[in-house]
Amino acid sequence: MKVMEDSEIRIIRHYSSKHKILLVGEGDFSFSLCPASAFGSATNITATSLDSEDELSKKYMDAMVNVSMLTRFGCDVQHEGSSSASAVRRKRGDSYHTQHKTTYPFSDWEIKRLAKAEGLKLVKAESKFELSHYPGYTNKRGSGWTSE
Ligand SMILES: C[S@@+](CC[C@H](N)C(=O)[O-])C[C@H]1O[C@@H](n2cnc3c(N)ncnc32)[C@H](O)[C@@H]1O
Repeated sequence: MKVMEDSEIRIIRHYSSKHKILLVGEGDFSFSLCPASAFGSATNITATSLDSEDELSKKYMDAMVNVSMLTRFGCDVQHEGSSSASAVRRKRGDSYHTQHKTTYPFSDWEIKRLAKAEGLKLVKAESKFELSHYPGYTNKRGSGWTSE
């Protein structure tokens, strides 16, 4: 795990304990828990799921444990959120990160075009998501009997 410490600022990959971070569309909240654990705090993180608490506990075996750890780290956890990055006041220098599949049918989403329509510009694309860069994170399906 590449975690660097600079007195009070802690960094893991693209994320710093100085950033104000909004995570939208969590599955079992293992992604949010990764920077929270690296920072030793999550008071700068808001983590959201479209699922209700009830749905989360039915779908993912670790969701509620992860949520409880996040809450202990001071994370603002919200469920059934209509949270959206566009609802947050933008300022110059803000960045939006998305991880998504690029094969069909996901390619039809045309993410670059959608972002451009929102006035955003692609700064960098990484062709491979390195799971090992985010210790503890396990990618989940959103629905169906195989959600876990
Ligand atoms: C493929 S799952 C990935 C879950 C999680 N981000 C992960 O990496 O494990 C897609 C997630 O997006 C959420 N989602 C779908 N539409 C959404 C929306 N409009 N706003 C917020 N979340 C949404 C679903 O509830 C689901 O949890």
